[in-house]
Amino acid sequence: MNIYKAKDYDDMSRKAANIIFSQIISKPDCVLGLATGSTPLGIYRRLAEWYEAGDLDFSQVTTVNLDEYKGLPKENPQSYYYFMHENLFKKVNIHADRTFLPDGMETDSRKACEDYDAILHSVGGVDIQLLGLGHNGHIGFNEPGSIFEAETHCVTLADQTIKANRRFFESEEEVPREAYTMGIKTIMSARRILIVVSGADKADIVKKAFFGPITPQVPASVLQLHPDVTLVADEAALG
Ligand code: F6R
Repeated sequence: MNIYKAKDYDDMSRKAANIIFSQIISKPDCVLGLATGSTPLGIYRRLAEWYEAGDLDFSQVTTVNLDEYKGLPKENPQSYYYFMHENLFKKVNIHADRTFLPDGMETDSRKACEDYDAILHSVGGVDIQLLGLGHNGHIGFNEPGSIFEAETHCVTLADQTIKANRRFFESEEEVPREAYTMGIKTIMSARRILIVVSGADKADIVKKAFFGPITPQVPASVLQLHPDVTLVADEAALG
C-alpha cells in the first residue's frame, strides 16, 4: 500500500486529484470509479479547474459510481446522481451516456443490481476506484459485517451511517434506509484503488482499517489485500 501524508484537506485533495489526472493522461479512455460524500469534493473541484484550464479532457472517460440511494430520483438534490452532476459532470466535457450509477428508481432490487453489474462488466472494469472511508469502516455502503464476496447489492443502512448522512437532509426520517452499492468483490476487482481520508475524527478508523486485522467488521480492512492501493490522508486522519 502506498501512503501519502497530506498537510491538510486541500493538500489531500490536490495529491489525490493529481493521481486521477495522471490516470486520465496515461489512458484517456479510462474507467473511473467515483464516490460521493464530503471528502472527494475538493478533488472534483480541482479536476474541474484543470479541465477549465485546458489541462484535462474527459471526452473519452467513462465513470461508474459506487452507490446510490434506493428510491431517490435523479432530480432529488440528495441523490448521488444529482451530487455527481453538480460537482463534476456538468463542469467537464464528459459524455452523459458514459456516466453510470445504480438506478435508484428501480424498485426491483435484484434487477437494479444485476443491471449495474452488467454495466460494470461491459465497460471492461474499473481502472481506478476512488473511495472515501466511513467512520465505521464502510466503503461504498458496505457496512460492518458485509461479506467480502458480494457484487452490487441492496443494503439497509447502518444507524451510524443514517446519522452521519442526516446532515444532508431536512430530518433523519428523510434519509433513505436502503441503497444500492457495489460490493466488496466489485471494489476489489478495480485495477487500482485510491482512498482519501481527512480529519481527526477518522484517525481511529484509519488505524483499524489499514494497520489492524482484516475483518468484515471493518470493511475497508479488506483493502490491505489489494495489490495496488493508495491511501491519501491528511495529518489529522493519520494522527
Ligand atoms: C460515498 C460512499 C461512502 C463515503 C463515506 C465517507 O459514495 O460510498 O462510503 O465515501 O461514507 O463519507 P464522507 O466523505 O462524507 O466522510
